Amino acid sequence: MERNIVQRNLEEMYKANELASDFFHSCLTRTTYGKPAREYLASRGVTEQAIAEYKLGFAPPDWNKLSTALMGRGFSADALVRAGLAAVRSKGEGIFDRFRARIMFPITDGCDRVIGFGGRAIDRSEEVKYLNTPETPIFNKRYVLYGFERAMPRIRETGRVVVVEGFLDLVTTQSVAVPNAAASLGTAFTPEQAKRLARYASEIYFAYDSDAAGQNATIRAMATVQEMGLDVRVVHIPDGKDPDEFIRKNGPKAFKALLARARTFAEAREKTAV
Ligand code: UTP
Ligand code: MN
Repeated sequence: MERNIVQRNLEEMYKANELASDFFHSCLTRTTYGKPAREYLASRGVTEQAIAEYKLGFAPPDWNKLSTALMGRGFSADALVRAGLAAVRSKGEGIFDRFRARIMFPITDGCDRVIGFGGRAIDRSEEVKYLNTPETPIFNKRYVLYGFERAMPRIRETGRVVVVEGFLDLVTTQSVAVPNAAASLGTAFTPEQAKRLARYASEIYFAYDSDAAGQNATIRAMATVQEMGLDVRVVHIPDGKDPDEFIRKNGPKAFKALLARARTFAEAREKTAV
């Protein structure tokens, strides 16, 4: 009995995330209030094809559009809070949408089920640039590798994966330059992520931001992966850029040339040592 409830809750969470992903995608592509989001993506060089492929979306600038839509489909307020799509009001009653006025990146698991989202603010005054789904029974950040499923055939074929940090880094790297890329999202690369990659790749290239935080993250990530006996390389992106900015400015060929010149673990540690 107990088990059935747990199972039902999980299935409900997957379903809520899937419907939310459909909802956000149509808000982006088919509404008038989605226009600023479409313009923002165009200004970042994201094509309509990429929007369709990655099923990017837009969370409306409204407190309860998603919650109202999903509750109309039979979801309880509790179920939406459990799925990380809504939060409980601190004053008064009821819930409100967690994601508002953000470009939405759906995150999938190994079975192509939507397990959570990253949401990028389009309004510069927003304090938090990226807001993510909180930890839920189906969304465990330590395992998440954005774009991994799409890249898997190519990663398996080449035995190589290029790991980037951010959502847009992944979309740009994969759709414009190299298909065998995945994003670790944020700075701490975990042993769980390393194990997922190690099932398909023996060479791991880290193409993190060239700022200090990115470089420190690289050193820590390399140590994690090195211990597992994998071949690690570090891609140095010049001029303090991230892969997205570098590829937009210099093109895919120049990025591939950086991959070809990537440093080994020993070389990179020497260069970053202070
Ligand atoms: P960055 O701050 O380097 O942003 O964060 P970015 O990816 O270059 O963002 P754009 O290009 O301006 O859109 C790198 C990654 O760290 C995570 C996100 O996954 C982001 O893509 N992050 C960053 C968060 O989760 N929350 C934040 O507030 C910032
Ligand atoms: Mn960026």
